[in-house]
Amino acid sequence: PTERTLVLVKPDGVRRGLSGEILRRVEAKGYTLVAVELRTAGDDVLAAHYAEHEGKPFYAPLVDFMKSGAVLAVVAEGHRVIEGFRSLAGTTDPTTAAPGTIRGDLGRDWGLKVQQNLVHGSDSAESAAREIALWFPAL
Ligand code: CMP
Repeated sequence: PTERTLVLVKPDGVRRGLSGEILRRVEAKGYTLVAVELRTAGDDVLAAHYAEHEGKPFYAPLVDFMKSGAVLAVVAEGHRVIEGFRSLAGTTDPTTAAPGTIRGDLGRDWGLKVQQNLVHGSDSAESAAREIALWFPAL
């Protein structure tokens, strides 16, 4: 069965001009783009999006970072796209993420309070449904 995931190109990715490269990798893997929208995230969306991280030391810097510039919100579709995109993205820390992945090829630690790791991808079917409803209520 086909599934959908929410991908975000975070402000560091948009600022560095990597949106096209990241979308290219998603499409090259064979997934379909269902929705793509450049937008500035507000506190309400980010609080809901990162509810599971509330209270962690990096939460406030994370929300500030996510508000620091435009975000490219994307819904991608395909068989096993949720785990497929996580695999394309690589592990959280871009310094040690495997080469060949988005984070491993294009990201690194800039010595800041928050790991600026270029992309977000939903981590489960439940998260994907919740996040797609949050970012694209019309879908
Ligand atoms: P992601 O896994 O997409 O969602 C949570 C984000 O919080 C993560 O990417 C990083 O951007 C950031 N993050 C997670 N863990 C840490 C950490 N230990 N220190 C700083 N930032 C973090």
